[in-house]
Amino acid sequence: MAGHRVLLLLLLSVVRAEGHSTCPGVIAVGGHGPVRVTSTKWNMPGDPAGPVDVVAGKVVPHMKGRAYFAGACSEGQFNHTSYSSMKLLGKRLRYTTDISGAGCGCNAAFYLVAMAHNAELSGCDDHYCDANSVCGPNCAEIDVQEANRFAWHSALHKAYDRNGVAGGYGGWTQGATYPFDSAQYGPGSKCIDTSAPFDVAVSFHATGGTLKAMEVTLSQPGRTCPLSVHMGEYPGMAELGAALSAGMTPVVSYWSSPDMAWLDGPGMGKGPCQSPYGQPKCSAAPQFYGFALEDL
Ligand SMILES: *[C@@H]1O[C@H](CO)[C@@H](O)[C@H](O)[C@H]1NC(C)=O
Repeated sequence: MAGHRVLLLLLLSVVRAEGHSTCPGVIAVGGHGPVRVTSTKWNMPGDPAGPVDVVAGKVVPHMKGRAYFAGACSEGQFNHTSYSSMKLLGKRLRYTTDISGAGCGCNAAFYLVAMAHNAELSGCDDHYCDANSVCGPNCAEIDVQEANRFAWHSALHKAYDRNGVAGGYGGWTQGATYPFDSAQYGPGSKCIDTSAPFDVAVSFHATGGTLKAMEVTLSQPGRTCPLSVHMGEYPGMAELGAALSAGMTPVVSYWSSPDMAWLDGPGMGKGPCQSPYGQPKCSAAPQFYGFALEDL
């Protein structure tokens, strides 16, 4: 019996050491082609990431999971030249998200970073970069969605602009852009009922090769009041336009913090989550699916 127990412990430690799969699956992106989802090993340097699943064409990041869109993926390999480099200036990207399990303190995110052009390996061993240098390197970051069922932010960040500018509902946004409220967005709300999936479209409007605005529109089948965040005022428009022209990598992640008040707290945006709210209530992992890329 003792021998069996040792064997079991050995097996468990091997599974734990190997962690989750780097390449959980392939999704189709309309107007673009197949994308090999690539799941990171490290949430932050030294902090193992959670798994990301691909189930029936849906990308499902579990707590502390983060995954990148890529053209190629091989187990345990992270080469920045493999990551998708989507040229999004003058384009619209659509998808559907289900964040019904993400409560106060949970952040279900979909965003773009310039990591396909980052040759530096990073502290997460995967070339990941962002405006908050989570893994070391900085790069341009465009947050289409940082959200839970009570709050929504879209944000623009130059490579070295940690705070950037944000618009949406809940917590704190710079420049105080709160285009909607809890009557319109939230569980049971009239425009976006976050207890069911809803559609997201992000458009990068350009004139003469220059980024003029990011517009994020949320809509839901059967409801007739789409919500929009329009962001055209930011000193980093030239840098972000160049990053979108050169190509950016879509990223999904799911994380939580006992202090997510910047996103969902009372702030100026009168968010409904009261901090401190103790242990964040992140139940079902969010889903991201039905991706499609279109010309504007
Ligand atoms: C990354 O991929 C490129 C293109 O396939 C290749 O030339 C390069 O050697 C790879 N780098 C590493 C570190 O494997």
